[in-house]
Amino acid sequence: MNVPASFMVSLGQCLSTMSLYPSGHPAREKVIDASFTRLLDVLSDIQFADFSVIGGGVVFQGRVLDELRSWDWATRLAAVGIERLEIDADVSREAWSEALNEMWQKLNGHAPESNDARQLVATSIRFGSLRVMGGEGTAGGVDGAAKPATGDTDQIPEDTATSLGLTLKDEIAAVTWIHEEVLTSDRLPMAEVEAIVGSLAIAMKSEQKMLLPLVMLKDFDQYTTTHACNVSVLSMGLAEQMGCSRSEIRAFGVAGLLHDIGKVRIPKDILTKPGRLTEQEKELMATHPQEGARILLERHKGLQMAAVVAYEHHICIDGNGYPHFHFDRGCHFASRLVHVCDVYDALSTNRPYRKPWTSEQALSYIEQREGTEVDPAISRAFGTMVRGATLGHVPMPENSERDD
Ligand SMILES: [Fe+2]
Ligand SMILES: [Fe+2]
Repeated sequence: MNVPASFMVSLGQCLSTMSLYPSGHPAREKVIDASFTRLLDVLSDIQFADFSVIGGGVVFQGRVLDELRSWDWATRLAAVGIERLEIDADVSREAWSEALNEMWQKLNGHAPESNDARQLVATSIRFGSLRVMGGEGTAGGVDGAAKPATGDTDQIPEDTATSLGLTLKDEIAAVTWIHEEVLTSDRLPMAEVEAIVGSLAIAMKSEQKMLLPLVMLKDFDQYTTTHACNVSVLSMGLAEQMGCSRSEIRAFGVAGLLHDIGKVRIPKDILTKPGRLTEQEKELMATHPQEGARILLERHKGLQMAAVVAYEHHICIDGNGYPHFHFDRGCHFASRLVHVCDVYDALSTNRPYRKPWTSEQALSYIEQREGTEVDPAISRAFGTMVRGATLGHVPMPENSERDD
C-alpha cells in the first residue's frame, strides 16, 4: 500500500482505538504515534498534504487512491462533514493528536471544543467540508461562503468577439469530445474547456437577448452536452447580473459547463433512456455529483470551485436533494447559483416524456421554491435576468417532475 493510503488507514485505526481507550492510555498513544510517523512520511517531500474524501473514496493531491476505493472510513468521515483534510509540513505530534480528538468528537456527535489548543491545530491542520480553498480565478475563500464582489462589475470583454452564428454547434461538438476524453483517457482538456467558455461568453454578449444562445434540444442523446453549454451561459449571465467580477464570471462559466461531468460515468443506456428511470437507475444517476467532483479534483488542480459545484449542485438550501447530509452544509454561492440555472434549463428542455416548459413556467416553478430549494436572492436575480419584465400568474403544467 502506498504511503498516503497507509496514512489514511492509520487515521481510521486511531479513530477506532480512541473509542476503546481514554486519552493518555498507552494503546491509544501508540496508534497515534504510528499514524504521526506515517504522516511525516507523507510530508517528507511536500510542503502540504491535501486529502478529499468523496463518494466512498479518497483523492490525495489530485489523485484517486485506488487502495481506498471501498474504504469504510471514507463514508463515515464524509457523513459528519469531514471531506477535506489539509496538513502543513510543520505539523506537530500534539497538533495531530488534537485534530484526531476533534474528528473523533465530530464522529460521536460532540460539538468541537473552542480552546487555545484548537487554534493551534487550526494553523497546521484543517479539516471540514469540501470547499474552495482560494486561489486565482475562483470565487471562494477558505470557508467557501463566497459572495459576489459588489462594486466589481467588470464586463466580459467583447474585443475578441467573432461571428458565431449562435447555433453553438461547435461548442456542443467540443463538449461531446471533452466528455469522451474524460471517459477514455486520464486527462481533462482544460484548454478546450476555457476556449468553450470564452466562446459561450462571447455568444452571450453578442446577442441583444441573453437567452438566445441557449440551445433548444432536439436530440436526446445530446442532452448532457447541450445542457452543459446552456447552464454555462446562464451561470455567467446570472453571475454578471449579481455583480460578480470578470474572473468570477468565467469561473462560474467553467463550473456550469462541468457541473454534470460525472454523468460520463453513468451507463449511456440510462442517460439516454426514453422514459422514466426506475428507483435503481435513479440511485445510480444520483452518484454523478460525487463522480464529477472526483474527476475534477483528480484531473486538474485549478478546478476546486468546479469540483465543489459538481458535488453540491443538487443540494437544496434546506438540505434536501443529494448527496444527503445530516448537518447543515451551507453550500457554496456558486453551487446555489448553478443549481438555479440547472433547474431552469432542465425544465425548459424537451424530454421524451414531457414537453419543454415555457420560460415563465420554469421561472414560476423556481420562485415557488425560494427559501426551501433555492436561494431567494439568486432566484430573484435570475428572474430579473430572464424576464426583464413583471410576471403574472402562470399555471403550472400537469407534469412537473424533472430529471436534472
Ligand atoms: Fe446534475
Ligand atoms: Fe445538470
